[in-house]
Amino acid sequence: MTLPDLPDQAIGLIWAQTRDGVIGRAGDMPWKAPEDMAHFKAATMGHPVVMGRRTWESIPARFRPFEGRTNIVLTRDPAVTAEAEAAGAQVFTDLDDALAAATDAPGGELTWIVGGGALYESTANRADIALVTVLDLDVPDGDTFAPALPPGFENVSSEPADGFTPSDRGPAYRFETWVSNDDL
Ligand SMILES: NC(=O)c1ccc[n+]([C@@H]2O[C@H](COP(=O)([O-])OP(=O)(O)OC[C@H]3O[C@@H](n4cnc5c(N)ncnc54)[C@H](OP(=O)(O)O)[C@@H]3O)[C@@H](O)[C@H]2O)c1
Repeated sequence: MTLPDLPDQAIGLIWAQTRDGVIGRAGDMPWKAPEDMAHFKAATMGHPVVMGRRTWESIPARFRPFEGRTNIVLTRDPAVTAEAEAAGAQVFTDLDDALAAATDAPGGELTWIVGGGALYESTANRADIALVTVLDLDVPDGDTFAPALPPGFENVSSEPADGFTPSDRGPAYRFETWVSNDDL
């Protein structure tokens, strides 16, 4: 995947949302979007991924940790810490420590924050790039929402430019790239 030029040790956010910004419901993502999963894999492969405890728990055990990527989990729960470390993830109780470990990991010139809502909120102000998949869906009972990107983020690409790409396997979708204009 080709990304815009980014600073050294960049931080990226990557998420999928409904038209209205819903990213989750009841601890899960209430859709199956295979093109978005492929997009996520292509973007994050070879780079560290940092996630909150609820997102770790939402990933089926057979898919975690995500292969080919250093998986870093934030939690203060000792039981989850033990389980995630046994599965092969690194676990931290402090965000700065987690991001420092990500920088030291293979591919650490670009760290991906992969959710969920709490992690996106606490890292948006230090992000350089956001890859946002907008799904042509309405989930009125969603309970977790995309962060507001800080002022100064610019939409540098949308595929397609208008509307959505139809899918016969899931919802129609649009891939957006947003970059902090501090970095442009
Ligand atoms: N649509 C998407 O692209 C996408 C992507 C990822 C997730 N999601 C969805 O988002 C939802 C989960 O998001 P969420 O906001 O509820 O939870 P979350 O961000 O995944 O996890 C929150 C937990 O992470 C830990 N944590 C967060 N910040 C921390 C910090 N600075 N220091 C230490 N620990 C920290 C805490 O764990 P402890 O309570 O254990 O201490 C906290 O309760 C789910 O519905 C999931 O499916 C959607």
